[in-house]
Amino acid sequence: MQTIRVETSSEKYNVVAGSGLLQSLAPRIERVHGKLPRRVFVLTSAPIWALWSERFLSSFAEPPIALFLPPGEEHKTLASVEKLLRQMAQAGGDRGSLLIAFGGGIVGDVGGFVAAIFMRGIPYIQVPTTFLAQVDSSVGGKTGVNLPEGKNLVGSFHQPLAVFADIGLLGTLSDRELRAGLMESVKAGIIRDRALVRFMEEHAAEVLGRNPKALEKVIAASIRMKAGVVNQDERESGLRMILNFGHTVGHALEQATSYKSLLHGEAIGWGMIAALHLARRRGTISSSQFDRLEKLVHLYGPLPVLKLRPAKVVAATGGDKKNIGGVRRFILPIGIGDAGVVEDVTPAELEAAAGYMLVQAGRSQA
Ligand SMILES: NC(=O)c1ccc[n+]([C@@H]2O[C@H](COP(=O)([O-])OP(=O)(O)OC[C@H]3O[C@@H](n4cnc5c(N)ncnc54)[C@H](O)[C@@H]3O)[C@@H](O)[C@H]2O)c1
Ligand SMILES: [Zn+2]
Repeated sequence: MQTIRVETSSEKYNVVAGSGLLQSLAPRIERVHGKLPRRVFVLTSAPIWALWSERFLSSFAEPPIALFLPPGEEHKTLASVEKLLRQMAQAGGDRGSLLIAFGGGIVGDVGGFVAAIFMRGIPYIQVPTTFLAQVDSSVGGKTGVNLPEGKNLVGSFHQPLAVFADIGLLGTLSDRELRAGLMESVKAGIIRDRALVRFMEEHAAEVLGRNPKALEKVIAASIRMKAGVVNQDERESGLRMILNFGHTVGHALEQATSYKSLLHGEAIGWGMIAALHLARRRGTISSSQFDRLEKLVHLYGPLPVLKLRPAKVVAATGGDKKNIGGVRRFILPIGIGDAGVVEDVTPAELEAAAGYMLVQAGRSQA
């Protein structure tokens, strides 16, 4: 069991990662919240609830009121938020109510946003159930939903009271989801943690084989990295931008494939390959570092085949949220374990990097 402290200027809370947390959830929540209020809500999805509700409920004297969000990015909308808010109001929710978000990143983002705005804000707890949600989306307080015009365009910063990441939950996750989530840990290592890079190189078989000790190590290191960055820059005015390594091209790939064929982490995997290429060209990493890191990304693959033209990918980077006032921001690794933001990446450089990556992606094994 590992406890990582998040201390932003607005909130302080613990992220606990380890096995066996789910069956002791209620007392753990009481320890951070005080006595449970009259109305406790749990937002989840039907497939997750079918697998895990028994263990989830085992520590509660009074079962929380279950609310459901259908799985899929297409339900991460304001319409879903309104529906959930109305269900909470109808069930007698008030300013003292507590919400538990029990699911992957979609449930976490929607649940956090609902908690941010119900009665102008109620406390909430994150109980992430996917690898991605455990290492990334449940930590840091970014909540929100999509608009037809783009992903995550509406939201709020609302930090949870605590995050409980039970590694046992990953036992029912598909291999594809696990591998995709691991790309965020690869990212964490490359930008901030050389020891994590080495561990992931040396222990890939145990990690992919879901050895609990190996998973706990990777998850805790990834959370520690994110917490460290968020502690210094909660609102993404500077340092937090480095978390977007691999995401400029990654988001472009998600957009160019209409969010259908790629999981987020898979898009980030390909995005990191393109960014590594650009970094090698600029000399912020050496050729041998490039070879090592490219190999690491593929170690946690296979990444899916992509049939796209580089120009289309470059065009799709235009809409990136990190671009403020038309500046194209790009995160480049500096050696292994450090990264920086550059603003002068030219379309030609980007096209060359996307071209390099797309040659591989066109003949990928997945
Ligand atoms: N807030 C942030 O800082 C942040 C960061 C990264 C990503 N995100 C968001 O996270 C979302 C993606 O999250 P995700 O990758 O967790 O996807 P997801 O929430 O869609 O979950 C993936 C799938 O796995 C299923 N599932 C969840 N837990 C399971 C379990 N234990 N066993 C079996 N199946 C399970 C879900 O029902 C779903 O079908 C995106 O909307 C993205 O924008 C947010
Ligand atoms: Zn990501």
